[in-house]
Amino acid sequence: MMSVKASLVRHPAVTAAGAALLLALLALNAVAFLLGFDAPRLQGAVLLADMLAIAAGAVIGARVVLRAEHHTRASRAQLHVIVDSAMDAIITIDAAHNIVLFNRAAEQMFRCPRREAVGGPLDRFIPERFRGAHRGHIGEFARTGVTSRRMGDATTLWGLRADGVEFPLEASISQGGAAGSRYHTVILRDITLRKMAEDALRRSQRDLREFSARLLDAREEEKTRIARELHDELGQLLTALKMDLSWLRERLPPHDAELAARAAEMGTLLDRTVTSMRRIASDLRPLMLDDLGLADAAAWLVEDFAKRSGVACRIEIAADLPDLPKGVATAVYRAVQESLTNIARHAGADSASVAIRVDNGAIQVEVEDDGRGIAAEDLAKTRSLGLKGMRERIALLGGSLEIARAPRGGTRVGLRVPLRGVPQEEAA
Ligand SMILES: Nc1ncnc2c1ncn2[C@@H]1O[C@H](COP(=O)(O)OP(=O)(O)OP(=O)(O)O)[C@@H](O)[C@H]1O
Ligand SMILES: [Mg+2]
Repeated sequence: MMSVKASLVRHPAVTAAGAALLLALLALNAVAFLLGFDAPRLQGAVLLADMLAIAAGAVIGARVVLRAEHHTRASRAQLHVIVDSAMDAIITIDAAHNIVLFNRAAEQMFRCPRREAVGGPLDRFIPERFRGAHRGHIGEFARTGVTSRRMGDATTLWGLRADGVEFPLEASISQGGAAGSRYHTVILRDITLRKMAEDALRRSQRDLREFSARLLDAREEEKTRIARELHDELGQLLTALKMDLSWLRERLPPHDAELAARAAEMGTLLDRTVTSMRRIASDLRPLMLDDLGLADAAAWLVEDFAKRSGVACRIEIAADLPDLPKGVATAVYRAVQESLTNIARHAGADSASVAIRVDNGAIQVEVEDDGRGIAAEDLAKTRSLGLKGMRERIALLGGSLEIARAPRGGTRVGLRVPLRGVPQEEAA
């Protein structure tokens, strides 16, 4: 009903009628003024009409003022309810940084009742060491004239509860009012739980990385030990067997062709066993890598790959390759080995190339092929571990790995490992 009445009052026809009435009254006043005391009755009527108009104006004015006041009070009450039911703490301070508004969430967050907070300084809710900086930031914000922004974008902000406990928070600030009576409103969110979860996640990621590094090292050590044992122990035994066999062959009764053929067969078998044993040992870990270094081991790897796969492969190794830390040499060797194995298994390539260079304090490796190329979904295969292991190993050394389409088609694996070692923070 109220709104129907109100809209009737604001209707253009009613406004036009009011204006017409006022104009008529003005005209009557003008006529009465011109006629002067010659028309006393008209004068009396006009005076009465004027008084009535003034009274009506006063009533309408009073109603407008009352309605406006009612509106203001209603919207203030509504705002108060919104502010008080907000999940985030809302605090407004005046130009002297004293609190003028402190909502229910702020009471809970700072463990302080509103009546104790309002009128007091904001500083009591900021740890002492940040107070100066905080005032500075608010002053600077006021000077920018921007109406609102997030506080402490890159850093964590800290609040101080009434019981003296500090806690991390996230805040945004807005300002209003003129320079002398400027108000600042901060909206705060307690991020203690989120920070705890983030810290726990960071810790568990660090533990996992450490665990993975240890696992890789342990695997590499184990492989080295078995390769050495195969090479030294088994190698010596096989050599002794070969020597014994040739001693026996020299003493075989002459003219016994069957015995001679069996002995020759045994010799061939022994040679094949030695070859297999060497291959297994070097697949496990090329002892050359420890004894002669990455350049020789990589050259041998490429040669062996070309021989076994039939894919023509070039290798280019920087002449100034320094002595590499064992971890870096192993990671690079394993990356080249995995890339070449992948080319043999998946690429269908005719040719491949390997380049190992030193650039800007880092060792840089590129392995390219001209095969079918790698697809994005290949990298996401859950059961494939080769490239994932490679990425992990390189990341542990503070390096980076890129797998993409090669400029001439096919696949390009590029990696970079810094030679200065892994920065402590990254390693942690
Ligand atoms: N040079 C390449 N050319 C084409 N596809 C490739 C190449 N290298 C890898 N891929 C694709 O990427 C996938 C993932 O390779 P990745 O080395 O991680 O695993 P995998 O070789 O399948 O198994 P493994 O865990 O034994 O290494 C491969 O299955 C293959 O489809
Ligand atoms: Mg693989």
